[in-house]
Amino acid sequence: MSPAELRDLAIEIARESGELARRRRAEGVSLAATKSSLADIVTEADREVEALIRARLAAERPDDGFLGEESGTGAGTSGITWVVDPIDGTVNYASGIPLYAVSIAAVEGEDPDRWTPLAGAVHSPVVGEMFSAARAEGAFVDGTRLRIAEPGPAGALLATGFGYDPSTHVGDLATVGRVMPIARDLRRGGSAATDLAYVAAGRLDGYFERGLQPWDFAAGALLVTEAGGRFIRPEGADVVRRLNLAGSAELVTELERRILHQP
Ligand code: IPD
Repeated sequence: MSPAELRDLAIEIARESGELARRRRAEGVSLAATKSSLADIVTEADREVEALIRARLAAERPDDGFLGEESGTGAGTSGITWVVDPIDGTVNYASGIPLYAVSIAAVEGEDPDRWTPLAGAVHSPVVGEMFSAARAEGAFVDGTRLRIAEPGPAGALLATGFGYDPSTHVGDLATVGRVMPIARDLRRGGSAATDLAYVAAGRLDGYFERGLQPWDFAAGALLVTEAGGRFIRPEGADVVRRLNLAGSAELVTELERRILHQP
């Protein structure tokens, strides 16, 4: 399959699984009110959506590998791995905030530092947007081609995220302090895949966050690069919680300098 065909498959499965996630959330609210907790419903929905994606991929692409947030890895023989976050933005999903996404990417290779992203889809089922990209074919939201933005004279509209471990918050806030001098404003949307899609779309100028997992960024990173931007994960001193940066080449260089190299 060509990257464009892999993308079309990712789109099809993301649409189907996004609909399942949306439906389960709606049903789960009433279910949680009577018998089980909302946290259980969310965990169940996460697993069920990933199981659907995995089963659909296994049927269509039996020789490919799989790396998913919920069900882990499955080795393949084709050299292609599908990297999947069934519900990126789980806290939003649990809290009834519509900003969550299904993220599906096809990559060549297994190591996130070395793999070549081939195709990706990030689907917001409540908002109703499908972001997609295929290697060397550009990035799109529905039918419209995406192009990253350059910050205007008022500064960069940036987004970030914070890890779920409270012990990391002080350090992450210090990072925010380092970039605010060049920011027009800062968003914390709650879904890394959506943040990256919005950078690709030029809605946000840039994004920085430590500690993402491969399934959080695999599809979104391809959206950014196919929209003319740059996505990097510089080493820095904190090798456990690697920094992730996205935006125009110039902005990414400036964010990296401020966060990692400014005394
Ligand atoms: C999380 C979201 C969030 C980001 C976290 C991720 P999940 O993914 O993308 O925006 O700040 O780092 O773990 O857990 O909701 O799939």
